[in-house]
Amino acid sequence: MKIEVCYSPALLHLFDTTGKNVVIIDIFRATSTIVAALANGAAKVIPVDSVARCIEIGNDTPNSITAGERDGQIADGLVYGNSPLTFTKALIQDKTLVLTTTNGTRLLHMVQNAHRILIGSFLNLDAIIEYLVNDQKDVILACASWKDRYNLEDTLFAGAVVYHLQNDHQMSVQCDSAIAASQLYTLAKGQVLTFLKESNHYKRLSNFGLQEDLAYCTTLNKHPIVPYVNDEVHIVI
Ligand code: MLT
Repeated sequence: MKIEVCYSPALLHLFDTTGKNVVIIDIFRATSTIVAALANGAAKVIPVDSVARCIEIGNDTPNSITAGERDGQIADGLVYGNSPLTFTKALIQDKTLVLTTTNGTRLLHMVQNAHRILIGSFLNLDAIIEYLVNDQKDVILACASWKDRYNLEDTLFAGAVVYHLQNDHQMSVQCDSAIAASQLYTLAKGQVLTFLKESNHYKRLSNFGLQEDLAYCTTLNKHPIVPYVNDEVHIVI
């Protein structure tokens, strides 16, 4: 089982995703929000790349909620943003979430011919690792990053996956990208939130008063689910 880390959507063309498990990672906050919404009973999440499309699909989908952000703030024309704390059971249970975000939903649409596209976050870290170990397919950990630029939070999650595959499942890792992520995680292990306070997106979202979101997004294993993208490009569990 080969494990690689793709640090930016701009690098995805260098990876062959055919037949592999591809884990989409957007810790602050898209993949954390998707995991929270599904864990709280959303029927599915429809990821879309534009606000116009989000509103259009929302209008055509009964029992749906449209949400999304641009540059970390609620997108113009939408009522809900990309905060995982918004999507409580009371709001989202049995509903379809139509979601558009700056980086996360875009990356998801770029992956071709994967065996399965999975949604990863610290909230479902162990569940994702267990799935990958049981499935034994090659893995690409794909970071949504920030507008194609490297980010710490997605790297750290990728590193957590690699670290646990190496240490709990005795997997050998050959790819430099995976070794680097795992080594970074060893520096942050046990204090992920504190470590990420230095990161650009932590600071950006903190400036909007979203500290509670940031703490939530770094909570380990709160939602042991494995969301994946189905043939209709809907995210389900
Ligand atoms: C994204 O997809 O870029 C984000 O998740 C941004 C955010 O909502 O913080």
